[in-house]
Amino acid sequence: MSDWTVSSTDALRISLVRAKDDQDSLAESEKDIYSFNPVFTYAVYGDEEAIYGYQDLVIDFRLTSGSLRQYLSVEYSRKLPSSSIVDDVQGTFTKFLPDLYTRDEDTFLACVEEDAATFRPFGMKVHSYTRPIFTAAEKGKGKGVASDASDDVVEFEVYHATWKTPGFREYHRRMQIFILFFIEGGSLIAEEENDWEFMVLYEKRKRKSDPNISTYHFVGYTSLYSFFCYPERVRLRLSQFLITPPYQRNGHGSELYRAVYQYVLSNPNVAELTVEDPSEAFDDLRDRNDLKMLLGLDKFMEEGFGSRSGASYGGGRVGGVGMRGKSGHAGAQMTSGKIGPPTNKAWAEKWRTQLKIASRQFQRLIEMLILLRLD
Ligand code: ACO
Repeated sequence: MSDWTVSSTDALRISLVRAKDDQDSLAESEKDIYSFNPVFTYAVYGDEEAIYGYQDLVIDFRLTSGSLRQYLSVEYSRKLPSSSIVDDVQGTFTKFLPDLYTRDEDTFLACVEEDAATFRPFGMKVHSYTRPIFTAAEKGKGKGVASDASDDVVEFEVYHATWKTPGFREYHRRMQIFILFFIEGGSLIAEEENDWEFMVLYEKRKRKSDPNISTYHFVGYTSLYSFFCYPERVRLRLSQFLITPPYQRNGHGSELYRAVYQYVLSNPNVAELTVEDPSEAFDDLRDRNDLKMLLGLDKFMEEGFGSRSGASYGGGRVGGVGMRGKSGHAGAQMTSGKIGPPTNKAWAEKWRTQLKIASRQFQRLIEMLILLRLD
């Protein structure tokens, strides 16, 4: 790249900003601003992901951590004299920000404070879980333990929403910019299509100044599209799935996926869950969670592998991934189970429809179970 060409992916800095008061004094590792670069910027700045005409360019794109109201500022040390070949950094980006809130820093900071006081998730809570807060020192050492205080946990909550949920349409408009930056081939959703459902994951914190007030901070979300499924149900297709970088590789994607799956299982109107064009990382996440679920299903495992004989699955690894079944079923010896090869098709189909897993994924899971058993 020339002196006057910069990578748009390096130049764009995305920040999720929360009020300082939302921080827990115990959490040394925590900040009020989480900044990260996008993975992709081709959708906004073109296939080359390059911007011409600037030096030391920083595209400072901030969002309030809850309501996702947006601030944009473009800074640089030098710019080539204005001419048609200098890229319009701000103009190009704002075409993708229909709800850009402000370019004024003070106005944005006021929004951050307002968020803490007033922002609440849209829709209905469908799942919650907790995670320990790690101190900076523990995190650095990669320790898997929380600090001493017994209540030293953070709550996370998943909310279900549709276009009909008041305020959600506008919220989604601000949220979906993340899809362009983190999902390869990801595209924006057309609001005219009615059959979308969403699950949004938030971190929930108590305000330091008033622990009775909870604040909510966006972690990630998934969009689901429902197709008609003969004769009278729907097939839910998971279309986009995203956990923002500060929260990745901490099990939040798995929790969100499990929330979707539980929603599918408990909803009699939904026949099965499918996934649109999954990335390798998402495939991994899905396989791990589906396998864990199957390994924990006593009846399925007993029918599949016959009597409980021989070694358990305890130390089994699938594709380099440790997978511990809670009930330790099946053995190294051949038993009279339904799982093959060859696998009893009618039996497998009965379980597949009951578990609402798509055919190809269920076949893969059976294959993985066979491999796990041979391991
Ligand atoms: N590469 C490979 N495997 C991964 C990755 C990765 N980057 N991230 C997660 N996994 C797999 C691993 O097996 C992981 O287990 P491990 O951490 O013990 O190795 C398992 O998934 C579970 O990890 P979680 O911590 O629960 O996953 P996370 O919260 O990080 O979410 C996700 C994973 C959704 C892929 C997240 O990193 C993300 O949003 N990435 C950017 C956007 C994206 O790729 N989305 C999926 C597109 S496909 C679609 O939308 C249908």
